[in-house]
Amino acid sequence: MSTTVIKGGTIVTADLTYEADVLIEGGKIAAIGPDLAGDTVLDASDAFVMPGGIDPHTHLEMPFMGTYSADDFDSGTRAALAGGTTMVVDFALPSPGQSLLDALKAWDNKSARAHCDYSFHMAVTWWGEQVFDEMKAVTEKGINTFKHFMAYKGSLMVNDDEMYASFRRCAELGAIPLVHAENGDVVAELSARLLAEGNTGPEAHAYSRPAQVEGEATNRAIMIADMAGVPLYVVHVSCEDAHEAIRRAKMLGRRVWGEPLIQHLTLDESEYFNPDWDHAARRVMSPPFRDKRNQDSLWAGLASGTLSCVATDHCAFTTAQKRFGVGDFTKIPNGTGGLEDRLPMLWTQGVETGRITPNEFVAVTSTNIAKILNCYPRKGAVLVGADADLIVLDPRKEKTISASTQQSAIDYNVFEGKTVRGLPRYVLSRGRVMVDDGALRPAEGHGEFVARPPAGPVSKALSAWKELTAPRPVERAGIPASGV
Ligand code: URP
Ligand code: ZN
Ligand code: ZN
Ligand code: ZN
Repeated sequence: MSTTVIKGGTIVTADLTYEADVLIEGGKIAAIGPDLAGDTVLDASDAFVMPGGIDPHTHLEMPFMGTYSADDFDSGTRAALAGGTTMVVDFALPSPGQSLLDALKAWDNKSARAHCDYSFHMAVTWWGEQVFDEMKAVTEKGINTFKHFMAYKGSLMVNDDEMYASFRRCAELGAIPLVHAENGDVVAELSARLLAEGNTGPEAHAYSRPAQVEGEATNRAIMIADMAGVPLYVVHVSCEDAHEAIRRAKMLGRRVWGEPLIQHLTLDESEYFNPDWDHAARRVMSPPFRDKRNQDSLWAGLASGTLSCVATDHCAFTTAQKRFGVGDFTKIPNGTGGLEDRLPMLWTQGVETGRITPNEFVAVTSTNIAKILNCYPRKGAVLVGADADLIVLDPRKEKTISASTQQSAIDYNVFEGKTVRGLPRYVLSRGRVMVDDGALRPAEGHGEFVARPPAGPVSKALSAWKELTAPRPVERAGIPASGV
């Protein structure tokens, strides 16, 4: 079997920085140490060898708001690899009334084109006995995370009673619920009012979903998860209101994780006031970009550990698709891209500025999410036996982000014109060199599904604690518990 060695680099993991070579054989890391030899040698001098990025939040070829997101598992995973991400976790989305297993089949078909490894979250978009039953079958297929939309009233949204029932089911199965936390009822009312008052442009999208709406829903989801006895993962945390709810819950011992996006960390709501309609509409996503002061909160959360992972929520629509909403902002497809830009943007604006360390960079782009999703240390680690999903990141290699050179299929980039460093010199997916001296070497269909079993360490610990502290009847002499 042929071997590859990454030579002369500095290994950076979530908790260590040291000099060593990495030997790869059969798609796995075979040895780490000095003076290793292999058939193919990749030069990592003056560069960092890190676990490949894991993006826990993508929507590739997603049916949404009357159209499909423009990047599929082909262009989406090419974008991922070009930016140093070696695994994506996409959302299988049953339409209301649809079988979860049917939705899973549909996503399985789409993902056949993937250039890098992938996994799925399952969305709970409606509730009933069939969903309850199928959730078990879904976990048996290696999916231990279930997403709940508290917004998008009338399409994907679930109500509190449905969410509670689903969270209870997650607790039984050792699965983890995810939430998109925005108060969907309030958003629907505000949107209707804004439209009636003549606020039809993309800026009204931001007016319709203020930070309080996200803070309230985050708090509510945390409470429901606590009542149901299950951990909680909050996707796209965009503001201090939501971060504050997560921070407070963590300090009370609740098992809650928060995921900011690279977009919310680096872009703000002024984008919506741009006089160019297309510019503003291209940035319409939920939650919207926020007042700049929220960015300090998100960065502080990454540095302190109250926020755990940086994702993209990559859900890209072309300008033509965005124009479905001319004259009515509620019809602008919600979503932005970022798969190719997440790591270099975070390196440049996070590590180079001193907001986070290189080890924290690895933690929030890869290792933390691998642990939460229960695929560590197969993914997210530089350890003997782990999958050889690796980046050789060159801290001096620089580019200016431009739609004209990106892998994504859309005709613009929300980070257009930003200069970034921390680009991949090499990217390996299970040992296969996918970026070679900076050039993408795609391999459609190379990506494999990563099964993630339920009952990870945090789920187990929380269920033991909830069992120990469960309400119990007080035994009273002469009074039968059953009342007769
Ligand atoms: O606007 C967004 N975020 N679009 C994708 C779907 C979602 O809410 O995550
Ligand atoms: Zn292709
Ligand atoms: Zn969402
Ligand atoms: Zn999303």
